[in-house]
Amino acid sequence: MKHYVVAVDGPAAAGKSTISKRLAKILGFTYIDTGAMYRAFTEYVLRKGVDPKDEKACCALIPEVEIELFPDGKVICSGKDVTREIREPHVSGNVSYIASYKEIRLALVELQRKMGEKSSVIMDGRDIGTYVFPNADVKIFQVASVEERAKRRYIENQEKGIPCTYEDIVADVEKRDRIDSSRAFAPLKPAEDSILLDTSKLNIEESVEAALKIIRDKIGE
Ligand code: DC
Repeated sequence: MKHYVVAVDGPAAAGKSTISKRLAKILGFTYIDTGAMYRAFTEYVLRKGVDPKDEKACCALIPEVEIELFPDGKVICSGKDVTREIREPHVSGNVSYIASYKEIRLALVELQRKMGEKSSVIMDGRDIGTYVFPNADVKIFQVASVEERAKRRYIENQEKGIPCTYEDIVADVEKRDRIDSSRAFAPLKPAEDSILLDTSKLNIEESVEAALKIIRDKIGE
């Protein structure tokens, strides 16, 4: 049976994970949150007391880092359940440094490609359509305005009891956009054959419907 790959790329907090999880459920595909992998690596760097800005020291940890993603969203990194911690500000504030290191990206991309070979997947990230799976069956580039993205992330954090201010979130989203788009290796940019999905004015149901239409038009299911 053919395995489909649906790439959902876009900037931080554009609602990619919410939409991708729902799409995966509707289509019976496996959802893979590649951002959680960069976040888990970042948690490990901080756990070991390594400076996230020290590329050499961070890359030296690659052999020790073992990341597992579970269908219920649980993330285990080298023996520790990091599901909650990887969403906290100390990880969010440092993850762009880790995601800019080529050696770390190559290690995680290898893992992502293996995951994509096992079953049909909805993979959410930044470089899935451009680098990880350049031949993905469907490529969606999901965007929303900075204000809308910050508002959504703020509400999400409040619901999860993660302390933050709206202004902090705006600053974090802008900083991550800047670093993610300007890094030398596999930066955030739409694949030429991706389809833009702007969810600024759409609610979750409308966004899912719009994404489903894109997918069904491409793979005819
Ligand atoms: O989607 P997210 O906010 O959980 O992603 C966390 C960070 O990881 C973000 O700064 C961008 C980076 N990332 C990446 O560079 N490539 C991916 N495929 C996924 C995430």
